[in-house]
This record gives sequence, structure tokens and C-alpha cells, in this order.
Amino acid sequence: MSDKGVNKNNTKTKTKNVKRQFPKWRDLKPLLVFTVPTLKRKKARLAAAYTIWDLRDIAKKRTPTGPFDYTDGSAESEVSLARARQAYQDIEFNPSILKDVSKADLSCEVLGQKFSMPMGIAPTGFARMMQTEGEIAGARAAEKFGIPFSLSTLGTTTIEDVVAAAPNGSNWFQLYMWKDREGSMALVERAQKAGVKNLLLTVDVPASGQRIRDYRNGLTVPPRLSAKTVIDALPRPAWCINFLTTPAIQFASLSNWPGTVGELLDYMFDPTMTFEDLKWVREQWKGNLIIKGVQNLEDAKKSAELGADAVLLSNHGGRQLDRAAAPLHLLADIRKEFAKDYEIHIDTGIMHGGDVLAAVALGAKFTYVGRAYLYGLMAGGQDGVERALEIMQSQMIRNMKLLGVSTLEELTPKHVKLLNRH
Ligand code: GLV
Repeated sequence: MSDKGVNKNNTKTKTKNVKRQFPKWRDLKPLLVFTVPTLKRKKARLAAAYTIWDLRDIAKKRTPTGPFDYTDGSAESEVSLARARQAYQDIEFNPSILKDVSKADLSCEVLGQKFSMPMGIAPTGFARMMQTEGEIAGARAAEKFGIPFSLSTLGTTTIEDVVAAAPNGSNWFQLYMWKDREGSMALVERAQKAGVKNLLLTVDVPASGQRIRDYRNGLTVPPRLSAKTVIDALPRPAWCINFLTTPAIQFASLSNWPGTVGELLDYMFDPTMTFEDLKWVREQWKGNLIIKGVQNLEDAKKSAELGADAVLLSNHGGRQLDRAAAPLHLLADIRKEFAKDYEIHIDTGIMHGGDVLAAVALGAKFTYVGRAYLYGLMAGGQDGVERALEIMQSQMIRNMKLLGVSTLEELTPKHVKLLNRH
């Protein structure tokens, strides 16, 4: 370290560190970069989001607490979700160096269909309650990005309307088995008639998880207008205007429900459902069948034996059994027990394109995002969903290059280590 400027007695001398001058236009000019002010405030707002968490912040400001918490929250102590996310945080990437990664190709083939990246939109309930464009925004954004959109049984748009809005998209349908079996299968028939090829059968709802935030917020579908909810909604004028000036928020497949979503699930869904029913659905449904909510090897094998075309490792976004295993932790062990070409899909806790790559490296053929899509939707309708997809796609491309791979096939378990957390 130089001791210039400090004399022996450690007092300051008159030597200056910095020479000053008047600013010169010649030097200033190249530094002045004016950007044209973005006319659309929404576009500017979304462009300033660089992560899914940024979109979540915007979403929170613009969405009343009830709908926001329905999306953001999960069951009981919300540990399943926190751990599923933590599992992705706790991976360590091991890149290869000095590879030509000028072209990073994210394309993949899933259940016989080509997609632009290994990630689709998961089925989520009541999208129009989060933001008025709802499922249509999701389906159109997915169509534009060349990835699938999955409509939930608890959707607020019909399957026919989804298909009409995104006719060139890959629109999938998710089925909850109701106590009224014929009623559930009528939905499946409608989906089939509308051209749906892939059915996700959700099998983790023998009882509803307790979503405590919904109880605390008194959330109903559509949201009830009480003094509390009105006071909460007023500072979110765009949401209020949409709510008041667009068709009422309704379930597309069933009539409205005066209680919480958890109470609805308990009322409608069938706790007697067994593997026999899975077999029955398999016999009825001619398209691809994906079993959603598988959480151990034995169930994965049984689902496959009964004719499932793929199993989806999921704990329902942490919304059902609290303290359920993080799906990422199950993946490698389940993968190694299956033939190479049997498809294992995964969801829950994916918030970054790097999470998708980690899952693919550990053997997942496909991944799904629910909240990441809904944060985008709440932040800005279809533009917001597109921003969410764009963010995750660019994260995937960048991280693939940094890992030294150009195609998904090159990703292997050697690229990812699951660190132990005690
Ligand atoms: C519905 O599927 C929910 O998890 O809330």
C-alpha cells in the first residue's frame, strides 16, 4: 500500500488525490444515452422485472390480498413449498468448460410432440380471479412460446374457449375425479371433442390441504364483497375496474361455491378414489395420460403399469400435504428405476430457468410452472405471462451456455449435485 500523502506523523499533506476540471461537452456527449420514454406503462413495468420474484412484487401490489394469497400461499405451515424451492436453491451446478455453446437449443419432444423448451404451464384454478384475462392469457402466451397450456377442472374459462383463443397451441386438460364420476367424464369428453390430446389426472386430493391464508382472508369464488375485501381492493384500481366491467368470475365447469376453495375440494372430490379408478380413466381416455401428484417409486411404477404415459412428480405446489417431500429430491431415485424413454415430469417450486435445467439434468423430461405463470398474469395479463416465460427462457439459455451444453440431451446428473442440508 502506498503511503503517499501521509507524512511520518500520519497527518495529511497538501497532495490531492483527485485533479478537478470543468466538464467538457466532448467528454460528456458519449455518456448521455437517452432512451425514448416507453409509452405504455405496463410494458415499462414488465420490462423492469428481471426475475419471477420481481413479477411477484408487481403482482402483489396489483392484486387484492385474497386472490394473491390463494396463489402465493400453500398448505398449513407452507413448509412443503418452502422446501421444494429450497431444494432447487441447494443444488450445485458443475459446468464443463471450453465447449462451443454458440447455439443453445432448448427444444424437446414430449409425449410425441415438439416444444420450444422443457416447461409448460401447469393447471391452476380460477385464473380470471387473479387477473381478468385469466386462462386465455396463459393459453395465448403458451401458444406464442411453443409450449403447452394446461386448463384446470377449476378453470374460469371453458376448454372450448381456451382452444378457440389459442387454436395452434397445445392445450391440455387436468381432471379432478369428482364424486360424480359421470360429471367428471363429461368434462373429459368435452376436452377430447375440443381437440385435447393430453390429460393430467390429479391424484393427490383425497382431502383438501388446509390453505390457512384462504381461511384468514375468507376467500370465496368469486370473491365476496365485504367491507374488508372492498377496502383491500380499492388501492388496486385496475383489478377493481376489471372485476366490475368484465363478465362475472365463474367456474367454467361447475357452479359457483359459497365457501373456501378447500371446502369445495372436500365437497366435490372423491376420497374413495383408488388405482381402480385410474385404470377406469385409462380405459376411457384415448389420448396421453399423465398422472399428476406421484410422490414415491411404488406409485410411479404402478401408475406406469396401469398405462400412464408419464408420471408427474408433484406435491401440488405444496398445497396439499404439508411437509411432503420435495419432488426434486425424489427424481433421481425414481428415474433410475424406469426405462430411459419413460417420461418423468416434475413440478412444485420451479421459479427459475436454472431450476428447469437442474430437473432435466436429474432425469425429468418435462417441467411445469404454476405460480411463476400466475405472478406474470397478475403483473400484466398476457404481456405479464409472456414476460414470465421470456425471463425463464433466457435464464435457461444463459445457464445452459454457462454449463457448457448446447442441447438438453447433453445435460446429465454430472452437471448437478444435490447438496445436503441438515
Ligand atoms: C386447486 O387445484 C388448488 O390447488 O387450489
